[in-house]
Amino acid sequence: MKRFLFLLLAMAALYTVQARERKCFDADWRFVLADSAHMADVDYNDSHWRKLSLPHDWAIEGDFYASNPSGAGGGALPGGVGWYRKTFSIPLTPSQDGGTSCFIEFDGVYMNSTVYVNGQKVGFRPYGYSSFEYDITEYLKKGENIIAVRVDNSDQPNSRWYSGCGIYRHVWLTQTEHTHVAHWGTYVTSSLSKNNKTATFNVMVEVANKTKDTQITNILLDAEGKEIAKSNGSTLQVKNPHLWTLDNPYIYKVRTEIRVGDKIVDVYETNTGVRSFRFDPKAGFSLNSVPVKINGVCEHHDFGCLGAALNEDALHRKLVKLKAMGVNAIRSSHNPPAPELLNMCDTMGLIVMDESFDMWRRKKTQNDYARFFDEWHERDLSDLVKRDRNHPCILMWSIGNEVLEQWSSADADELTLEQANLILNAGHDASTLAHGEEMTPNALLTQHLANIIKKYDKTRPITAGCNEPDPKNHLFKSGAIDIIGFNYHHQWIKDVPKNFPNKPFIMSESVSALQTRGYYMMPSDSIYVAPKEWWMPYTDPSFMCSAYDNMHASWSSTHEQTWDVVKHTPYVGGQFIWTGFDYIGEPTPYGFPARSSYFGIIDLAGFPKDIYYMYQSEWTNKPVLHLFPHWNWLPGQEIDMWCYYNNADEVELYVNGKSQGVRRKADSHVYHVSWRVKYEPGEVKVVARKAAVKNGYPEIVATQTIKTAGQPDHLRLTTDYQGKTTTFVNVEVVDKDGNLCPWAENQVFFETTGGLEIIGVDNGSQFSMERFKDTKRKAFMGKCMVAVSGKGELKASTFGMKETTHIIK
Ligand code: GAL
Repeated sequence: MKRFLFLLLAMAALYTVQARERKCFDADWRFVLADSAHMADVDYNDSHWRKLSLPHDWAIEGDFYASNPSGAGGGALPGGVGWYRKTFSIPLTPSQDGGTSCFIEFDGVYMNSTVYVNGQKVGFRPYGYSSFEYDITEYLKKGENIIAVRVDNSDQPNSRWYSGCGIYRHVWLTQTEHTHVAHWGTYVTSSLSKNNKTATFNVMVEVANKTKDTQITNILLDAEGKEIAKSNGSTLQVKNPHLWTLDNPYIYKVRTEIRVGDKIVDVYETNTGVRSFRFDPKAGFSLNSVPVKINGVCEHHDFGCLGAALNEDALHRKLVKLKAMGVNAIRSSHNPPAPELLNMCDTMGLIVMDESFDMWRRKKTQNDYARFFDEWHERDLSDLVKRDRNHPCILMWSIGNEVLEQWSSADADELTLEQANLILNAGHDASTLAHGEEMTPNALLTQHLANIIKKYDKTRPITAGCNEPDPKNHLFKSGAIDIIGFNYHHQWIKDVPKNFPNKPFIMSESVSALQTRGYYMMPSDSIYVAPKEWWMPYTDPSFMCSAYDNMHASWSSTHEQTWDVVKHTPYVGGQFIWTGFDYIGEPTPYGFPARSSYFGIIDLAGFPKDIYYMYQSEWTNKPVLHLFPHWNWLPGQEIDMWCYYNNADEVELYVNGKSQGVRRKADSHVYHVSWRVKYEPGEVKVVARKAAVKNGYPEIVATQTIKTAGQPDHLRLTTDYQGKTTTFVNVEVVDKDGNLCPWAENQVFFETTGGLEIIGVDNGSQFSMERFKDTKRKAFMGKCMVAVSGKGELKASTFGMKETTHIIK
């Protein structure tokens, strides 16, 4: 028995040494924002460079300037060329170690990265959103090695939104035996028998440096890590499988073991899930045979004041807030997301539309990816599918967003970034569409891209975000688009069955309403369109947009308008609203100093705008009663009070105890109720009731009171979200009774003690020129936010008030 145990231990030791080792390679880099060809040299003296850990985004550390070449559309933050260097030791020379291989993997570098190892160029990768790996085995030597990465984001503008600059996602170092599972070398698919009684997994494994005596074993593990099936072939079966659903996203794992002779040389794990889904031309979308509306949002990749630098806590916070609103799907607009987003969507039960490009051959901004498209699209698109195809959360691929190849003219080519952002929905001449049955070059290009995807994954449909709804759009004409996806144009939805017979349909992008948290334009029943036409400038000294759902761009709609069509049209599989969170860049309808978007349902600092609760009342069963706006106005001013509610039959508003009337949502097309009332200081209260009588009265199910706030008295700090390392703390300026002062703009100063470090500040204002990396922030509409890392004490102070302390444990 003892001998057996010893043997087992020895085998286990062998197993850990010989199997692959994948290490996070984020720590101990040096960085400089400068450029010289010598910076790759082995003996280059980088001792004066700044020390940092990845992920890193240098642009977010900068100041906003109108003259920054990214323009307001790109966030008005700096670009340039930066270098990263890291010295590291590996104990063995890989090639001397009986065939160890060594790889460096970058999840994302924006953009134009060139990697050097020990002074030798290893590779170049232009697309800032692709993940890529280099085999650096032959470049390494025993002992100390130097890796240097040049990142070039100097040719701007190259993006219609804020991209960030630098090695902004994780880096990994992997060592394997010579024979090993190739990069992204597994592909697990599954199918369900009738009545979901049995799931059959098919596992394809690509082995690098395969020898004659290489054997592959696949082991299926359940969510607890228990082995439930094993095979030396490619199929695994499980009876009564747990399905991947939105409420219970069950994750299985396939462990692939590679043996050469009797030695295990590699162990590789792939997460997977079992689900069936269907996009039906008549019935819309269903998951595991259950009809579901896709209640999705589009998201760019930045984390507000933390920039593009991947922060898992910030990402999780975003998804948690969206899920709480009732969101069940994310579109990674308009580029491959961080792998961590997909991992989280897998385990949180969020559907993903995985998107590849914002442009193909025709550029939207002067220096964008179009200049690399011909040479790189095949590689970038294949890599996206190979990297992501095992994620159960991904239910569709998008080959592009509003690409100009929908038409045969190229009229955006010479526009400025701001104009390009606007012209996308300008409408194009009918002569630029396809004629008859001809297969135009653009239709062929569409087929070509779809074929690249199908080569690596046939299990998911292909879509594209199209803002040309005419069936003569070259992309539609190609026949390669499995799901017709409209961006905007909700008025065209009624014609979809006629124009696209037998094709399923979604709104790949919708709404684009414009809102600033806490700012209200009255009368609220007027719709403010800004800009009125894409080419007309829009100015307003406030630099704000209205947080009633009554303002949108010329191509878009209010939230309620689009939701009404989506909700009541069975063949609409769902929508992806533009956007869940505000993002840096594209400050439509304004120009500089506006520098971040107005489209979000949640502002850049993470504070929900009022519309958040409209969706929550429609998309969840949580009880919702949300009355707005605040109650601090000029005496006698006429104020429109709106209310979102659910799970009640009527709501009644009282101003200082006087009823302002009962309101009911007349039918399922009504999403809010409102009252026009005269402001008088005091309080406004809404009472929600069920019609059923209890104790002689209709039952009160919820109430909400807003009081007129007095003078700012103190700061209230609350933890908004605490992650593994990052905590987001909300700061509110309140009166002596704790009422939010809705107009407060106090300058708030932060200090930390213990191990706590401030990593970002924000207030959700879309035009603030204050830095994101700072220890102070002005309140905006009464609130601001500070993101801290670590544990310790956070102190917040402002002139004339006593300090408030908040402890992060
Ligand atoms: C769409 C585009 C998005 C964003 C949005 C703003 O046309 O796909 O990236 O620009 O308009 O309304």
